[in-house]
Amino acid sequence: MPQPKRPRHLGVIMDGNGRWARARGLPRLAGHREGAARARDIVRWAADAGIAEISLYAFSTENWARPEEEVRGLMALLAQLLPREIPEMQKEGVRLVALGDVDRLPARARRALQRAIAATRENRRITLALCLNYGGQQEIVEGVKRALAWALAAEDPQARIAELTPERFRRFLWRAELAPVDLIIRTGGELRISNFHLWDAAYAELYFTDTLWPDFTRAEFEQALADFAARERRFGRISEQVRR
Ligand code: IPE
Ligand code: IPE
Ligand code: MG
Repeated sequence: MPQPKRPRHLGVIMDGNGRWARARGLPRLAGHREGAARARDIVRWAADAGIAEISLYAFSTENWARPEEEVRGLMALLAQLLPREIPEMQKEGVRLVALGDVDRLPARARRALQRAIAATRENRRITLALCLNYGGQQEIVEGVKRALAWALAAEDPQARIAELTPERFRRFLWRAELAPVDLIIRTGGELRISNFHLWDAAYAELYFTDTLWPDFTRAEFEQALADFAARERRFGRISEQVRR
């Protein structure tokens, strides 16, 4: 039996925590707490499915605009939950990395993140890129700045600039060592990318579901993978060319 096609790098826009809580008459933070439990679940499911890399969108550059109490609550949740997750990450072989401008996180959250990253750096089963203060446009602008600095440091900056192609530019993005995202799952019913992995979204497959993130199940995760496996990724070619 041939193995089904799996994404190498899965991205997840974990949306719908607030609506999940509101439907239960609970504060939004209760939704984020339940959402964090699903985040833990999906990393385990992904590792079991043989997925090498998973990006979880936990806090966008735009999410700072939320009510101060919610932002504070989210940051506190991060600082509280990350240390507790370390044993499980060790057991499951999860290597944690951060994606985003994490220097802007409050000190407690940043320290918890750094500790968890350091503790799990030798793990090899799956890489979890936690997207915190992440914005795809910001990532590209930072990449442009780095590319320019690299060009200007050369004897012939014009030549370096002229040599830039999309393939060469990608290495200036944050965490360029991660493979391009092949599948993006978005829960919560919105049909948009919300500034997530913009560069890779050029050719990522998209899976949208109305399910609110805290209600996301393993069965639906398997459904998204089955859906992905059945898609034909043509990258601009025609069917006959990619089918061989
Ligand atoms: C996503 O859930 C989690 C974060 C953005 C942190 P939301 O909080 O956006 O939930 P809804 O969209 O309001 O239901
Ligand atoms: C996207 O969800 C960000 C995360 C899941 C962290 P949002 O709820 O912030 O997205 P918009 O504002 O509806 O586009
Ligand atoms: Mg939302």
